[in-house]
Amino acid sequence: MDNKKITVSLKDKSYDIFIKGNILSQCGKYIKQLSIGKKILIVTQDKVPKKFINQTTKDLSKHGFNIFVLVLSSGEQNKNLTSLLTIISFAIKNKFERSDSFCALGGGVISDLTGFAASIYYRGINFICIPTTLLGMVDAAVGGKTAINIPDGKNLLGTFYQPKTILIDPNCLKTLPKKEFLVGMGEVLKYALLEKTARNPYSKSGFFYFLKTNKNNILKLKTKSLLQIITHSVSIKAYIVSKDERESGLRAILNLGHTFAHGIEQAYNYKKYTHGEAVSIGMCLASKLAQNHKLLSESLVTSIINLISSYSLPTKITELSKLNKITQSMLHDKKIKDGKLRFILPHKEIGKVKIISGIPIDEVKSLIKKEVT
Ligand code: GLY
Repeated sequence: MDNKKITVSLKDKSYDIFIKGNILSQCGKYIKQLSIGKKILIVTQDKVPKKFINQTTKDLSKHGFNIFVLVLSSGEQNKNLTSLLTIISFAIKNKFERSDSFCALGGGVISDLTGFAASIYYRGINFICIPTTLLGMVDAAVGGKTAINIPDGKNLLGTFYQPKTILIDPNCLKTLPKKEFLVGMGEVLKYALLEKTARNPYSKSGFFYFLKTNKNNILKLKTKSLLQIITHSVSIKAYIVSKDERESGLRAILNLGHTFAHGIEQAYNYKKYTHGEAVSIGMCLASKLAQNHKLLSESLVTSIINLISSYSLPTKITELSKLNKITQSMLHDKKIKDGKLRFILPHKEIGKVKIISGIPIDEVKSLIKKEVT
């Protein structure tokens, strides 16, 4: 399998992302290149296969690092203050110093949580990320957004804190449950809808076409296809983050489908739809909204919806009992600016998006209603 290196360029905070088969059992040589202390705290979760933990710890120890492992319970509900304090107390008890490191080994929950802990422990300790889920690889680990959930809402407490490096092993996806894989595919499909606006220099365009024509190999988890979708998605995200680390402009386009998605996830208490499913529905609704505003033709909207559905992802909600809750939650989204809803909408062609604000909530409500009835 080819070895890929993608750089997130952020002056003195720049870092490399390495994508390579079996990188877990070779991680020591990559981490050794960083100027960091001897102690590494690997924070992981009970769902992560023991094999991944053993491969990582074995190779790091071989390279002279002193490894500590903390296994937390899986699940979004554990991305909370209690888990944060568990990490901090563990590090204090084991005398971690500022030159030492925290390493997240797991999915998006673990990287968000460990990244946040790293950013505040002694005002900032080194952070390393080894994502093991598709969502973690193509989205959560890249770009330095860290967060925990609090009773008032999801991801409301967090920081921007970039890792020192990210190591991605596509082989980790071969043992990932299908549902978890599809959560990540929701985000991968998103990149196909925004890559031209990102002006991704690595792309020869046509990620949408690639996802359409390589669907069978991707869903069969063929190594080459996995490497391609990860590399392409990470390149786009790295480019966007390099241009706009703190989401004061371009980075907002990564929220395509997410205003709808957060409303849907919250209205159904994060139970009925996974994040990837909600984002898929959100991207279809955003496409329909774009069509209503004459930003996108009906045939392109149909192409988008057909591709999403061909990956067994939902394209609309199935009933309206939570309609009011969905729109209320959308109005409380943290992406709201000057009290107005902002949408990222596909624009003119597949791969281009435009930010539109001020769409009345009643229009959004009618749109969702029309899709169901
Ligand atoms: N997940 C969206 C972002 O990192 O900006």
